[in-house]
Amino acid sequence: MTQADKPLLCSGLDMRTPDGSGSQQIETHQEINMDLVLARLLSQQDDHLDELIELLRFPSVSADSTRKADLHACAEHLRQELKLSGFKDVILHRTAGHPVLTASWKGRPGAPTVLVYGHYDVQPEDPLDLWESPPFEPELRDGRIYARGSMDDKGQLYTHVKALQAMIALDALPVNVVLLFEGEEEIGSPSLRPFLQEHKELLNSDCAVISDTNMFMKGLPSITYGLKGLCYIELDVTGPAMDLHSGSYGGPVVNPVNALCELLASLYDENGKVAVKGFYDAVVDLTPQEREAFAALPFDEAAFRADLKVAGLRPEPGYTALEHLWARPTCDVNGMHGGFIGEGAKTVLPSRANAKLSCRLVPDQDPEKIADLLEAHLRERVPVGIELKVTRHHNGRPVIVPMDHAVIQAGMEALEKAFGVKPVYQREGGSIPIVDDFKDVLGVDTLLMGFGLPEGRCHSPNENMELENFFGGIRAAAWFYHLLPNYMK
Ligand code: BES
Ligand code: ZN
Repeated sequence: MTQADKPLLCSGLDMRTPDGSGSQQIETHQEINMDLVLARLLSQQDDHLDELIELLRFPSVSADSTRKADLHACAEHLRQELKLSGFKDVILHRTAGHPVLTASWKGRPGAPTVLVYGHYDVQPEDPLDLWESPPFEPELRDGRIYARGSMDDKGQLYTHVKALQAMIALDALPVNVVLLFEGEEEIGSPSLRPFLQEHKELLNSDCAVISDTNMFMKGLPSITYGLKGLCYIELDVTGPAMDLHSGSYGGPVVNPVNALCELLASLYDENGKVAVKGFYDAVVDLTPQEREAFAALPFDEAAFRADLKVAGLRPEPGYTALEHLWARPTCDVNGMHGGFIGEGAKTVLPSRANAKLSCRLVPDQDPEKIADLLEAHLRERVPVGIELKVTRHHNGRPVIVPMDHAVIQAGMEALEKAFGVKPVYQREGGSIPIVDDFKDVLGVDTLLMGFGLPEGRCHSPNENMELENFFGGIRAAAWFYHLLPNYMK
């Protein structure tokens, strides 16, 4: 019998007993396989954790040009691992930026092909002094693993690698897979977008899966059906050619730091709502059904505030905090500098100032159009004697994935099997810009099945991954691959 002939794809039989009382599950080959897979995963938990620790040691910060070799080493480490564990066509592709890693396993002709995406790059680790243990020396505390990248996204990417390795080893994988791991997600995937165009054949698939989002809360798995888009710009404000004595020159000579503050303040109204003309024009409002569904989620606003140690929240008028977080566009200053920031006081009128600004967008806002609106708004308000330079950084389109899609339904059942709890649907304030390109360029819809937690401190000091979620995530990935043929005929 060839591999493809094996009766792996038959669906489970649920035979009712003749009197109609109770049910008797007939074990099919499929179920026997899954028992073996789960047993193997359980027995390998220590190894999986050790291997994750190794992966987390690479300081693969994509934004830091001095770490180029570390990104390469991290990708190479993953390449070796995939090569040694039964994946085929394991290729490390050089790009203008950091390498893209692809691999495949295509032992089930006729079965669906899943594109599995993850990113091995991480956010910068600063501010370093706020970490309780060094960001690239993983530490186990309180049932969690602490390290930069533990949840975003190495720990989550690894859930698929570990599930697939076990299924391949047991010849229990009923679908075909193409793995696509990149090293530039955190800087807007500049190399991956052209890569998709150039490698459509290699990436040909029926659906995609990404684990790079959160569960709604500990113990409550979720599927994310909406991601925000992003528009990122940088402002350079210059005034006099040199720093000046603030007494001798202050007043008539407009201070660039003051000017930057004026410009930034003009972006908001008194409620914090974005005051840029046209900003909300393309926004698709929440449906009454969505609002109802959000309201039914066990969102504990007091606990949310307590976790962040903030005394209050300022949701957009007319919306709840959750609605604002997930479905309303926002605009944030990500950083600004200018003038004297050393110890003590210096009476200086600085010659320049800088700010980085990003907007999170929702359907159907267009990032380029939003950048145009922002730039026009700011240019109209530049004070006399001041020059403004606007640099456009990366963009990402917002996404909504169809909840009735087969891949989402398979994900729902997989999560329930793995965590023993019925999952919920949620949206998300974060962005994974490549999801839109998957649809646009490759024509595939994506399941966003995440295992991070809101308290996982993603992008922040003390980023962590709950071990229960790491192991549960591996089980959920295995269940997903196992169940998918039942949903995608
Ligand atoms: N994994 C995150 C997205 C995310 C964050 C999902 C929090 C769920 C909860 C992703 O890696 C990320 O951070 N993306 C960037 C994209 C940007 C740099 C283009 C983001 O959202 O800031
Ligand atoms: Zn991520």
